[in-house]
Amino acid sequence: MPPQRLNIKPATPAAVAEAAKLIAEGGLVAFPTETVYGLGANALDGAAVARIFAAKARPGFNPLIVHLAGPGEARDLARFNGAANCLADRFWPGPLTLVLARLPGCPVSKLASAGLATVALRVPAHGIAKALLEQAGVPVVAPSANPSGAISPTRAGHVAKQLGAKVDMILDGGPTALGLESTVVGFETQGAAVLLRPGGLPAEEIEAALGSRLSVAREGPRPSAPGQLQSHYAPVAPVRLAATTVRPGEALLAFGPTPPAGGLARRNLSPSGDLAEAAANFFAMLHELDACGPDSIAAMAIPDRGLGRALNDRLRRAAAPRS
Ligand code: TXA
Ligand code: MG
Repeated sequence: MPPQRLNIKPATPAAVAEAAKLIAEGGLVAFPTETVYGLGANALDGAAVARIFAAKARPGFNPLIVHLAGPGEARDLARFNGAANCLADRFWPGPLTLVLARLPGCPVSKLASAGLATVALRVPAHGIAKALLEQAGVPVVAPSANPSGAISPTRAGHVAKQLGAKVDMILDGGPTALGLESTVVGFETQGAAVLLRPGGLPAEEIEAALGSRLSVAREGPRPSAPGQLQSHYAPVAPVRLAATTVRPGEALLAFGPTPPAGGLARRNLSPSGDLAEAAANFFAMLHELDACGPDSIAAMAIPDRGLGRALNDRLRRAAAPRS
C-alpha cells in the first residue's frame, strides 16, 4: 500500500535505523547523498524497484544506479576491467557511477538494469547515505528523488514538494554539498572509458586519472544513458539559454559579477564566478525561480569546463523541447 501522508524526519540515528528497516522491507526512502537526494529501494526486490518507476513515472527503459556501502560490495555484482578498477580506487566513495557488465548470478533486479546486461554502480560519499546503506544490508537503487524529467532535488523540501506522500519516508540531511548528479562512465568492449553523463566529478579529473581522453556517448531516442534523454531537469517555465538581457516577465539565473538588470525575480549562481558554488546552488535556484511563475527563465552563459560542463548539460536539457 502506498503511504497516505508526508513522512519527513531529520536524519537522526534513530530515523536512519528506521529508514534502513523500511528499505530492507521493500519501502521507498528518500535520502541525501553528496550529489542530490536519491529515492532508495532494495535493489534485490523487483516489486520495490517497480515502485520506484511508478513513483517517478520513469520510463521503463531508463535503468537505475545501484548504491553500495563500499567498493567491496560493488565488486560482488559486476565485472571490473582495469580502467574501472583504477577509477573506483581513485574516486570511490564519491560522485562517480560506473556502468559495468553484470556478473553471472548478479542478484540485482533485472528491472533496475532495464533489461540491459550492464549495471550502474556508485559508492556515495555522505555519512547519512553510508550509514543507511550499511544498515539496510542490501544494494540500494536510487534515482534522483524527483518526478521523471523534472528538476532534481538538493533539499529534503524539494522531495516533499515533488513526490510527497508517494514515498514512505524522507530523511532530511540538509542541503547536498555538490548539487549535481554523479558523473556516469561506461566502457566500450575494448575497455575504453566513455562519458555517459557529465556530472559532479569533472571529466578532466577522470581523464587525468586514466591518462587518456574519454569518448562521449552519442545521443538517440533510446540512449545508452537515458539521463541523456533530451528534455530533462525541466522547470515548469521554459528556459532561455545564453541570456545577456532579461525581459520584464522573466526570471534571471545569473552567473558572475555583472548580471543584466530587470526581470521578475533573480538568483545568482555565483557572483564571483566560482563553478563549485554555482553547482551547489543550481537546482535549488531553479526550483526558486520556477516557483515565482515567470514567463521564462533566462539563464546566463556558464564557462564550459570542469563542473561548468555538467551545468551546461543540465541547462541544455532544461531548455530542450518538451514532449
Ligand atoms: O548522483 C547521482 O547519480 C544520483 C544520486 C541519488 O546517487 N542518482 C541519479 O540517478 O542521478 P538517476 O536515475 O537520476 O540517473 C541515473 C543515470 C541515468 O542517466 C541512467 O540512464 C544512467 O544513470 N544509467 C543507469 N544504469 C545504466 C546502465 N546500465 N547503462 C547506462 N546508463 C545507465
Ligand atoms: Mg535524475
